[in-house]
Amino acid sequence: RLLRQTQFLTSAQRLDQCPPDEGLEVAFAGRSNAGKSSAINRLTGQKSLARTSKTPGRTQLLNFFEVTEGRRLVDLPGYGYAKVDRATRQQWQKELDGYLAERRCLRGLVLLMDIRHPLKDFDRMLVDWSAEAGMPLHLLLTKADKLSFGQAKTTVMKVASSLKGHPAPLTAQLFSSTSGAGCDDAWDRLGGWLEL
Ligand code: GTP
Ligand code: MG
Repeated sequence: RLLRQTQFLTSAQRLDQCPPDEGLEVAFAGRSNAGKSSAINRLTGQKSLARTSKTPGRTQLLNFFEVTEGRRLVDLPGYGYAKVDRATRQQWQKELDGYLAERRCLRGLVLLMDIRHPLKDFDRMLVDWSAEAGMPLHLLLTKADKLSFGQAKTTVMKVASSLKGHPAPLTAQLFSSTSGAGCDDAWDRLGGWLEL
């Protein structure tokens, strides 16, 4: 798998620090603590590529990882619980909005949600943005190891059917960084978007 060669590229505090807007990019978004950094580590087979933490709000920058030349994964700052002051949080939100609005090489958005708490307000904001932008969306319902397989499957189906009629390509799956469940499906989606 090409994804195993992924390397850290750069962190950007502001939009103008992002790598040149060329090639293909897939971004990982979701509430703080949803498991974005853990998913990137699991999918790339590298334990500490993206920094994870029990303290929400760990990822404070846009972090870029290069799979191969011109093919990148982006770990976006988690929205929600971050224990930071309001000004900083507003600044991140501004960078996140700006990234989504302006990034032309963005091919798809992976929205990660804790399978026990799907589709909170902030998640719905991103779903709506995907609809308006016509941006393909892939939902990873993370921490599936916290539910029985049957419960996890049912949740995925409920979430997917509640978004029926979404005007952009939308797919959903269960995922666990702990057990590795769902990795093959996620690889397929990322590989398709990044033309790997
Ligand atoms: P921010 O950087 O704050 O936005 O968080 P994040 O979305 O990057 O979450 P992170 O990957 O740091 O994970 C948050 C916590 O959830 C950590 O304690 C992880 O160990 C845990 N976690 C992540 N994925 C899983 C999973 O699949 N199963 C279980 N049981 N725990 C997980
Ligand atoms: Mg993180």
